[in-house]
Amino acid sequence: MSLLIRNANIANADSSQLADIFIEKGVIQAVGVHLSTSAERVIEATGKVVIPGAVDVHTHMNIDMGFCQSCDDFYSGTVAAAFGGTTAIVDHMGFGPAGCSLMHQLEVYHQWASAQAVIDYGFHGTIQHVDEQILNEMPEMIAKGVSSFKLYLTYGYKLSDYDALRALKRLGSLGAITCVHPENDDVIRLNKEQLQRSEMMHLPIAHALSRPAECETEAITRMLNLAKLADEAPLYIVHLSNGLGLDYLRLARQKQRHVYVETCPQYLFLSDERYRQPNIEDGLCHILSPPLREKHHQAQLWQGLQDGSIDTVATDHCAFTRAQKRLGLGDINRCPNGLPGVETRLPLMFSEGVSQGRITINKLVELLCTRPAQLFGLTNKGAIKPGFDADIVIIDPSTSETIQANMEHSKAGFTPYAGMECNGFPEYTIARGEVIVEGGELHAQAGRGRYIARSLAKL
Ligand code: URP
Ligand code: ZN
Ligand code: ZN
Repeated sequence: MSLLIRNANIANADSSQLADIFIEKGVIQAVGVHLSTSAERVIEATGKVVIPGAVDVHTHMNIDMGFCQSCDDFYSGTVAAAFGGTTAIVDHMGFGPAGCSLMHQLEVYHQWASAQAVIDYGFHGTIQHVDEQILNEMPEMIAKGVSSFKLYLTYGYKLSDYDALRALKRLGSLGAITCVHPENDDVIRLNKEQLQRSEMMHLPIAHALSRPAECETEAITRMLNLAKLADEAPLYIVHLSNGLGLDYLRLARQKQRHVYVETCPQYLFLSDERYRQPNIEDGLCHILSPPLREKHHQAQLWQGLQDGSIDTVATDHCAFTRAQKRLGLGDINRCPNGLPGVETRLPLMFSEGVSQGRITINKLVELLCTRPAQLFGLTNKGAIKPGFDADIVIIDPSTSETIQANMEHSKAGFTPYAGMECNGFPEYTIARGEVIVEGGELHAQAGRGRYIARSLAKL
């Protein structure tokens, strides 16, 4: 099927132009003014904003937290993504059985995603322990398209500094990128003991009090130094939530070449006031790690987006229903961590970022499309240029909607952004040349999405 998008206000990360886009065989064949090519379908885009399909490099579909499973699988999660203008995800695979190989989870995730995903997908490897077998398996994972790996400094399978250093060295030598969840586990433990003694562990605010900005920042600076010691292994800090950590990252980026930073909409739009709501259940619905911060961090993170200290905005979409969140009633330790967000990232960033004049449309494309694709080796995605996959989002900036839980496609049943007015919802989401969302309707089957064997990034 061929498709012509006429009179598009195209925004790439590096330029804008008014032009037509000709698509055939799922690929952008030509971009130019008044293309004379005919096509089976023509979409008139006068007055619309046309950007590359957004790439979300931090999701957790179907993740098994041991005591409960996130409510969005690769079907509902990628449907929600498509409605929000995201045409590719890179999912962080969850932990497998203790001692399992890296390949174990890859096989499990392939089975889930191949049957369910409606958009293209890749996977980050998850390093839950380090031994010779794991280190030896890394090249095979990379050969299978897993060119990045995440390690955790807290939760059940946290790595010691010794093992984090071993993983960094090995991955760096192979040219792969190490993503890290940076929080100091001992700080959390000690703070929780104190909060327990004060009989506060039933209050959602205790979650934020147990994991202050310094707890995250200490782990960030430790990883910066370990990455440097690991012969400057490429390091990607996921879900940065605070301005202090950003200050250290800025400093490191002046001296260290291979340090990359991601933040998420929840840290740009929401604050720890959400944990102080009178209804405890509402507070539980906002529990994620790192936690929501005091409001002043938001301005610091926006500054980081503007001055280029932050590379990407991803979602960390990890959705649970209110019923699942209620597991934390009485003891917040039992509340599953994570928020839905894959459907609202682009509309929020368009509306609050571009329309409010905080960032340009080109910056938005850089943060949500181009840079994530480059950093994670999705070489055919993230730009509207000939030869790239025809992943395209068409936005009518003159229409706005108020975000409501009942318009969301996630199974969470709630959204932390309810009530926010947004003018960046896609009118069309096009994925490899197929119109998969149009006028609020889905035109894609489960299993339509393809696995992206990712390359090593050229950093
Ligand atoms: O609370 C969160 N962020 N849950 C998802 C897992 C993670 O740490 O990224
Ligand atoms: Zn994390
Ligand atoms: Zn995550």
